[in-house]
Amino acid sequence: MVGVRVIDLRSDTVTRPTPAMREAMAAAEVGDDVYGEDPSVNRLQEQAAALLGKEAALFVPSGTMANQASLRTLTRPGDILLAGEGAHVLRYESGGPAALAGVHVQTIGRGGFFDGAEVKAAIHPDESHFAPTRAVTVENTHNTSGGRVFPLDRLKDVVATAREHGLSLHLDGARLFNAVVATGTPARVWAEPFDTATFCLSKGLGAPVGSLVCGDASVIRSVHRARKMLGGGMRQAGFLAAAGLYALEHHVDRLADDHANARRLAAGLEKLGFAVDPSPETNMVMFGVEDTLGFLRATRARDLWINPMGEGRFRAVTHLDAPEPQIDEALGRIGEVVAQGIR
Ligand SMILES: Cc1ncc(COP(=O)(O)O)c(C=O)c1O
Repeated sequence: MVGVRVIDLRSDTVTRPTPAMREAMAAAEVGDDVYGEDPSVNRLQEQAAALLGKEAALFVPSGTMANQASLRTLTRPGDILLAGEGAHVLRYESGGPAALAGVHVQTIGRGGFFDGAEVKAAIHPDESHFAPTRAVTVENTHNTSGGRVFPLDRLKDVVATAREHGLSLHLDGARLFNAVVATGTPARVWAEPFDTATFCLSKGLGAPVGSLVCGDASVIRSVHRARKMLGGGMRQAGFLAAAGLYALEHHVDRLADDHANARRLAAGLEKLGFAVDPSPETNMVMFGVEDTLGFLRATRARDLWINPMGEGRFRAVTHLDAPEPQIDEALGRIGEVVAQGIR
């Protein structure tokens, strides 16, 4: 149980449903979604498809399943999937692309971002010795780069090259709405070129569970089959979909607060002498420390939870349950750590 003193900036996945979201969940109309009979799930899927400008959408339990069911649909065993460095599908999904889709993941570009020329250079010749280069995945926002937005002009360049060479396109949009709010570019513009486009309800949007995969009706039929195979068919999932519908209505615009809080935290850390990555674009702050273990222990001892991202690097994530006063309190506690000579 997290005590009231704890400030948890490990991830935006740690939020608890608000009282109003819980009310919406309790009041949800439900049915058996494996039979396609859950009205709340159906409503959520229709709304997600409309938001992303696609024909259809499918509710799945997690961002991981959204990615893996999509990749299984877009590729065949033996294919190559091109991805940016540090892609979630490669690093944090338990080997899913290899185990579940049978694809090799080849990273291109730098720090999660790449352009059309880098896609082109990676494409194998159409010759029997080579694994076929089949698809490209784009992560937007990009987690391990610190929540950065994939620049739209670079994305257009990637899409043009991918299409020219017959590659499929997947969007890991776990935090797509952070990109939407940060840039003012609508979700359907970001999603438009992709065969499969996902977003998560359980990150900054503050719902407890769930992600959507959006695409053409025929593609979503295949993703639906993959979801079934992966064990992701849920029954009265409308309780969860109701949380998602509530989140889409009430928790999108407020992501701007998380972004402002991330900038506030970054500025405070800089004042305390930390090397902070350039101003946060969304809700993540990446910063350097000299003593990884010492900093981790000293912050934990003060009930401040921030995760290291490898040696000498920490990532703090702002969210619904960490409003501005908690950000200031977190900076106060980090100030105490620095005063002890730990940084
Ligand atoms: C970019 C990205 N994609 C996918 C996921 C997977 O989501 P889930 O934890 O719901 O499986 C995450 C989780 O943090 C993520 O950051």
